[in-house]
Amino acid sequence: MAVKKFEHVPVLASEATGLLITNPDGVYVDGTFGRGGHARLFLSRLSPKGRLIALDRDGEAIAAASSIKDPRFRAFHCPFSEMAEVVRDLAIDQVDGVFLDIGVSSPQVDDARRGFSFRFEGPLDMRMDNSQALTAADWLSQATVGEMVRVFKDYGEEKFASLIARSVEEERKKQAITTTTQLANLVSRVVPHSSKDASQHPATRVFQAIRIKVNQEFEQLKKGLDAAGQILAPKGVLGVITFHSLEDRIVKRFFSLSSNPAQQIDSKLPLRESDLPQATFKHVRRTLPTPEEITNNPRSRSAILRTAERTEVPWRNIGEIL
Ligand SMILES: C[S@@+](CC[C@H](N)C(=O)[O-])C[C@H]1O[C@@H](n2cnc3c(N)ncnc32)[C@H](O)[C@@H]1O
Repeated sequence: MAVKKFEHVPVLASEATGLLITNPDGVYVDGTFGRGGHARLFLSRLSPKGRLIALDRDGEAIAAASSIKDPRFRAFHCPFSEMAEVVRDLAIDQVDGVFLDIGVSSPQVDDARRGFSFRFEGPLDMRMDNSQALTAADWLSQATVGEMVRVFKDYGEEKFASLIARSVEEERKKQAITTTTQLANLVSRVVPHSSKDASQHPATRVFQAIRIKVNQEFEQLKKGLDAAGQILAPKGVLGVITFHSLEDRIVKRFFSLSSNPAQQIDSKLPLRESDLPQATFKHVRRTLPTPEEITNNPRSRSAILRTAERTEVPWRNIGEIL
């Protein structure tokens, strides 16, 4: 039987490469290797002295990274929240750029066995790292109605969060919810017909919310941003691509607080200019895909790339206020 090959088209690839790689001799971290679309482009811009450290929490992505035979390249199976430890273990003090392309890859979504998509019948899994214990089905079997409502609302902006959570509670008394189609059909049944949107499956938001919960995506993102701030050299660039507004809000706030930290200080306090905290990032910039890219790769339509340059000011951890 032929092995199915899942492809991933990198988004905002030339824009990200141009903004990130400012020193061809430098050391770079790609925290979300996926299938290496961005990583290969970064390598093509580096000199023989440059280095690229790739991370991914998905073992299949790291297995795919072994196809890159290049002495300048190393790949590690770990979450990007641990990038500072990886860099330290390699005896590297600072890096010249960190790149994060947040979310799931096409190979993860398109492989029915991974259970990310309501479009394919598969186990309700959704773990990016399948060495992790908790699957989506496990979470759905244990969560209280209150927890489900919070997750569906906070991570999916789902209007019918209570209705869906109560229906899950009813259904799991009869039988365990273990497959993608079981959950997708349940959500389709309970969302009122008048609220259904022809352009989006009614289960889209619930699937997004459960995926974010199971993979602790927002906690990872906040820790990853902080870790990048710690390891970047002055003038080093952090570039982050997000695919939905909840993630983008975190990245936007991170760059806003670190480029203008005085906004955290009560303006009524009698402080001199020199007492105010100094910016740890500058030149914050937002880049969107061109209409041509959206036509060629519709998955790029919601992508936002935010980049900024690290200053010389010592790093202050702001993860907990994001
Ligand atoms: C959108 S894809 C990246 C695609 C990649 N840029 C490419 O061109 O092939 C996102 C990847 O990030 C990984 N990922 C998501 N969150 C992660 C985290 N916290 N730590 C490490 N990898 C993560 C996923 O497993 C997935 O492979």
